[in-house]
This record gives sequence, structure tokens and C-alpha cells, in this order.
Amino acid sequence: KNIHKIAVIPGDGIGPEVIREGVKVLQKIAEWDERLQFQFDFFPWGCEYYVRHGKMMADDGMEQLQSFDAIYLGAVGYPGVPDHVSLWDLLLKIRKRFDQYVNLRPIKLLQGAPCPLRDVRREDIDMLFIRENSEGEYAGAGDWLFKGKPEEVVLQTGVFSRKGTERIIRYAYETARKTGKTLTSVSKGNALNYSMVFWDQVFEEIGKEYPDVQTYSYLVDAASMYMINQPKRFQIVVTSNLFGDILTDLGAALAGGLGLAAGANINPERIYPSMFEPIHGSAPDIAGQGIANPLAAIWSASQMLEFLGYEEWAHVVLEATEQVLKEQKALTPDLGGTASTSEAGDEVVLKMTEIIGKSFPTTAS
Ligand code: NAD
Ligand code: IPM
Ligand code: MN
Repeated sequence: KNIHKIAVIPGDGIGPEVIREGVKVLQKIAEWDERLQFQFDFFPWGCEYYVRHGKMMADDGMEQLQSFDAIYLGAVGYPGVPDHVSLWDLLLKIRKRFDQYVNLRPIKLLQGAPCPLRDVRREDIDMLFIRENSEGEYAGAGDWLFKGKPEEVVLQTGVFSRKGTERIIRYAYETARKTGKTLTSVSKGNALNYSMVFWDQVFEEIGKEYPDVQTYSYLVDAASMYMINQPKRFQIVVTSNLFGDILTDLGAALAGGLGLAAGANINPERIYPSMFEPIHGSAPDIAGQGIANPLAAIWSASQMLEFLGYEEWAHVVLEATEQVLKEQKALTPDLGGTASTSEAGDEVVLKMTEIIGKSFPTTAS
């Protein structure tokens, strides 16, 4: 048996609510597939932990996580703890320390998912964002001078190292080559006259090694317009940390909302564990009501399955998710339904059993 050790960090707000459903899906797979087993260890880190202990995670938290095969995270951040503290001491810390420099965010319109655009077909919105996830605008570099004085100046420095820029762009070219899709770089070289001029240059340089890959390069302002009025333009997209953050929420809105937007933080070298998390936050406005949409978290679990080498299972989970959307029966309120979080999760499990042709008691576990 392959035993996979998964560190689960449910986190804040709706985090625990949606992660429960993802774990449910993974547990079912382990029940059905005798090749594999998951060993889940739960870590109660987050804003509540901060209020009690004055820190977001245990002092040796990073060492504890190091030995896992993957991390499954809900969301971090809640009113009461300043966002820059909670995020930098948990989520961003893990992404950085574990060198998860590739953030994979599929923006893919599943059948049955609501799209705010007119006249789009399912295949018109099928993008994979490859967001730089370790430096750039999120380098955490800056200064705060003359605090509170009239001459106060605040600096936030973007850091684009050659190594960091090359590796993400190379990863994107490799992905485009493997899939036979086009590659679009999104940058802003007209105004950001250091970072993005450099980015564009590296994109071009590395492109010489990939003459088989069809490329495009857009400025981020134009790209955000094209995503709305000509989404077909985009297949594989590579972009910086901040632009990728913003454009993937925009993309989420095109593909059914944040409740359907999945993400994976990958350390391609597999030196450190990779982390799988929906791209949405803790949604304090709906937390505690049991109505959060778990499909994004479940889709992220599907990404985890793929990463662990179970492509068939990854596919089954995604197909089941699409089936739930198509039937429009067990949808949560964000998708116009009345189902609870756990009912939506149960429905995914039910569709999985239909797909794999097994039957089992459909009880909420
Ligand atoms: P958010 O993603 O939490 O919520 C934005 C809107 O989308 C809200 O109206 C929310 O109800 C809705 N929404 C989000 N996920 C949903 C789901 N699964 N089902 C149904 N509706 C959903 O963003 P925000 O309100 O800007 O941020 C809230 C907190 O989360 C902040 O502290 C922020 O820093 C943090 N945050 C964390 C992460 C993360 O951990 N990866 C990501 C984004 C924001
Ligand atoms: C995301 C989130 C994070 C980010 C925040 C919470 C720091 O918005 O995962 O998209 O900006 O990366
Ligand atoms: Mn974001």
C-alpha cells in the first residue's frame, strides 16, 4: 500500500467547512482503492490559535510540516487578527519556505457552472494560470520611513531574481509544450520599467528554446479586458505573483465564482511538500452557516491526487464535480441552490460512485 501523509490545516472561517468535504472525498477514494491510503494529521493553526497563543502556528510548525507528502489548507485570515500578520505567518510563510514557486490555478468553465458572459461555450473558458508564487511583488521587501510625519514615505519593493523569473517561465513553457497549448505572458513593461522589462526579456530569451510553443504577451490591463471579452485568447498563462492573484479572482468570476476556483502551490523539485488550497479566503460573511461551496476545495483535492500520481482519481473527482453542476440538484447558495456544504460534498461522492460503477450507502459521514 502507498501511504500518503497529508497535513491538513483547515484554518479560518469557511476553511474547516470546505476542507471537511475534501477530506471526505479523499477518504472515500482510499476506501475504494486498495493501492492507497491517506494518513491525515490535522493542525489547528490559524487566527483562533493566534488569539490563544499569540502566534499563527507552533514554533516548530515548519519542521512538523516538512515530512508530509502534501499539505491541504482551507483558508487563513479572520477579522480580529491583522491580515498581514495572519497571512505572512502562516500561508505565505509555507509557500515561501517550502519554495512552492508554482501556483497552478485552472480557470475552466465546467458544464453547468454559471458564467456571467453572454454566448460563451464551455470550451471558450479553459485556461491554466501559472502564477509566480515565491517572490515578485510578494517579496515582503520594503521600508516605512518617517512614520506619521509629513514626509512619511512607504516603499514596497518587487523582487524579480533571474533564478526566480527563469524557473517559473520555464515551467510555463514546459507545460505549454507538453499540452500543445499556447502560452501567454502577462506583464506591464510599459510602466514597471525594471521588473516587467526584465520579465519580458526573460520570457523572450527562454522562448528561443521552445520554438514549438506559440506565445503571446499582453500588458496586464489589456489582458484583464481580453479575459472578459475574448476569453478564448488564453490557454496557458504565466504571470507575476500579484497579477496572478488578481487575474485569478477575475477568472474565478468567469468560471462560476470563488466557490469553484481551485489552486495548487507546487514545489516541482519535490524537495518540500506542496500545498493544495482553494483560491478563496475565509469568507467571514458566510462562515459558520454551513453554506460555503466546497467544490473549489474538492477540486484542489483533485489537483493533489494528480500530483501524488493518481491521475485517474483526479479525473473522477473533477468529472463528479461537473456532474453535480450539470444536475443542479445539490448546489450551494452561491450557485443559486439551497444545499448545505456537506450535502454538496455528499453529492460529489455519490457521483463518483456512479462514475466508477460502485454502490455504497449514501450517508453523510
Ligand atoms: P473571500 O474569498 O474570503 O470572499 C470573497 C467573497 O466570496 C465573499 O462574499 C464570500 O462569501 C465569497 N466566497 C468565497 N469563497 C466562497 C465559497 N467557497 N462559497 C461561497 N462563497 C464564497 O475574500 P475576502 O472576503 O476578501 O477575504 C476574507 C479573508 O480571507 C481575509 O482575511 C483575506 O486576507 C483572507 N484570504 C485568504 C486566502 C487564503 O487563505 N488562501 C485567500 C483569499 C483571502
Ligand atoms: C490567494 C490569496 C493570498 C494571496 C492572500 C490571502 C495573501 O489572496 O491565495 O489568492 O494574495 O496570494
Ligand atoms: Mn487571492
